[in-house]
Amino acid sequence: MADSRKRVAIVTGGSQGIGEAITERLIRDGNAVCILDIDTERAEETAARIVERGGTAIFRHADITDFTAVEAAVADAEATLGPVGLLVNNAGFTDAGDIEKIALDDWHREIDVNLHGPYHCIRAVLPGMIDRRSGVIVNIASVNGVRYFGNPAYSAAKAGIINLTQSTASEFGKYGIRCNAILPGSVRTNNPSWEIRIQKDPEVFNKLARWYPLGRVAEPEDIAKAVSFLVSDNASYVTGAMLPVDGGLLAGMNVMIDEFILESKD
Ligand SMILES: NC(=O)c1ccc[n+]([C@@H]2O[C@H](COP(=O)([O-])OP(=O)(O)OC[C@H]3O[C@@H](n4cnc5c(N)ncnc54)[C@H](O)[C@@H]3O)[C@@H](O)[C@H]2O)c1
Repeated sequence: MADSRKRVAIVTGGSQGIGEAITERLIRDGNAVCILDIDTERAEETAARIVERGGTAIFRHADITDFTAVEAAVADAEATLGPVGLLVNNAGFTDAGDIEKIALDDWHREIDVNLHGPYHCIRAVLPGMIDRRSGVIVNIASVNGVRYFGNPAYSAAKAGIINLTQSTASEFGKYGIRCNAILPGSVRTNNPSWEIRIQKDPEVFNKLARWYPLGRVAEPEDIAKAVSFLVSDNASYVTGAMLPVDGGLLAGMNVMIDEFILESKD
């Protein structure tokens, strides 16, 4: 699926979990990657491992909620690696919380990281992409952006990033810029919200599997493969799309149907 051109990619949150798999995949496809992250230790480790293997990876520290920091990191990445051709907006988090109980500051922080952050990154790479009349942006949204699966602040932000994907694709297609969103379902990572659930029930991912027509939750590489496709020339006419990479979760209600059929068999 690799593209023949070696490009410079920015992967936010590219040091661990899904972002690490995306970074690794883009490197394997022949690109150079700048990991933009707040976890300095993990990001330096990931970049160093890639460099050791002969790949080109750097780390620049930036909290994506801080536009000035993002702009500086992008400028620095361009000075070091060259013009940025790919942006993967992957960094995100959720701390859960019910609509009526979530602390207001927590609500604002989730919207800030999951929606304003990706907007800042898009805003920072756009001028260069417009000048060069090319660029590809992939936003890692979530199935939460189109259905209720809990985590309301996170979900509202993910719905926002899906719409931002459509706005970006619509406004900048004329400059040869493509922008698409990936909607993962459950992905086996150690992110803070999964960590809490794993501590409560180490079998959580196995138990969730029955909700997925493909019979398993995703591995980070499943998402990375979709990114690899969307940034490649194989997706040259794909823009403004919402691609669920969810093992079929959004396609139907298997568990409900199974229970209904069992009931009607009794
Ligand atoms: N894991 C899942 O089940 C799942 C499902 C659907 C969507 N997603 C989405 O995939 C993306 C990655 O999730 P993950 O599970 O790999 O998470 P993770 O916690 O393992 O990794 C997130 C990365 O983002 C970085 N990050 C967090 N806040 C940041 C900020 N303000 N500025 C810069 N970097 C920041 C973290 O340091 C970390 O490296 C997120 O956008 C998440 O919403 C995950």
